[in-house]
Amino acid sequence: MSDMADRISIRRDDYVIDQNWAAYTRQEHAVWDTLYARQMDILKDRADPAMLRGLETLNLNRGGIPDFREINAGLRDRTGFEVVAVPGLVPDAVFFTHLANRRFPAGQFIRRPDQLDYLREPDIFHDVFGHVPLLTDPVFADYMQAYGKGGLRAMAFGRLANLAALYWYTVEFGLIRTPRGLRIYGAGISSSRNESIFALEDPSPNRIGFRLERVMRTRYRIDDFQQTYFVVRSYDELFRATVDTDFAPLYARLADGLGHEPDVVLMDDEVISRGTQAYARSRTAGA
Ligand code: PHE
Ligand code: CO
Repeated sequence: MSDMADRISIRRDDYVIDQNWAAYTRQEHAVWDTLYARQMDILKDRADPAMLRGLETLNLNRGGIPDFREINAGLRDRTGFEVVAVPGLVPDAVFFTHLANRRFPAGQFIRRPDQLDYLREPDIFHDVFGHVPLLTDPVFADYMQAYGKGGLRAMAFGRLANLAALYWYTVEFGLIRTPRGLRIYGAGISSSRNESIFALEDPSPNRIGFRLERVMRTRYRIDDFQQTYFVVRSYDELFRATVDTDFAPLYARLADGLGHEPDVVLMDDEVISRGTQAYARSRTAGA
């Protein structure tokens, strides 16, 4: 029985695999280094300082693909979060269960050298460079764990689409206000060279103050730059708006799904900048 488990690979039901760090090739480490150098150059004045501090704290700049054993040693004393390797996207319930137990599932593989700019599936660069630094922040780490619990609850309510929009517009594509202006904290932005510039500087997208229910009603694009970015004042604000709110009555009101188009500006939105949507229009015209 255990013999057989050794020879054939049996998928554990939590999808966790060994990172097998020693097996990464020199070329794979070089892809990490190229991406790291490119992003640091762009992010030093664009990312939330908390994210940049996290990168340093965890020594993610020491060259080559990071070893999860080292990352976890660094995370353990700070927030008790842990990174576990998975083969790629995992089923929703598996993902939520990991988060609820303070484990962040990260893709084990790295993109090929011809995929530096865009990749559909999250690889180790997106997951580790993008997501892991903020797991050193106690409030953000608690938000991630609460999100995992909330995910299991949303599934039970049949409102996963609404909760997924919250993740999308915060964890993946969120902006934060700082004394020095808007900064990036979403991993989908921070792991992408072009979107890091677009999200902050392009006149095309809207930038709108975060409001929980508004965000949870808003559709989003998965294959192109966002048409709207939502801006939080702090991770505390995000935490209080979500963790201290019982979503059950909200889910009841949201029964009609994602009603707002990705580019809409509502009367009661706090508009930080109203986008021209010129980029989005040029993309549809060309399609
Ligand atoms: N408070 C949410 C609920 O009642 C759970 C949650 C917390 C969801 C944080 C997302 C983020 O379901
Ligand atoms: Co991600």
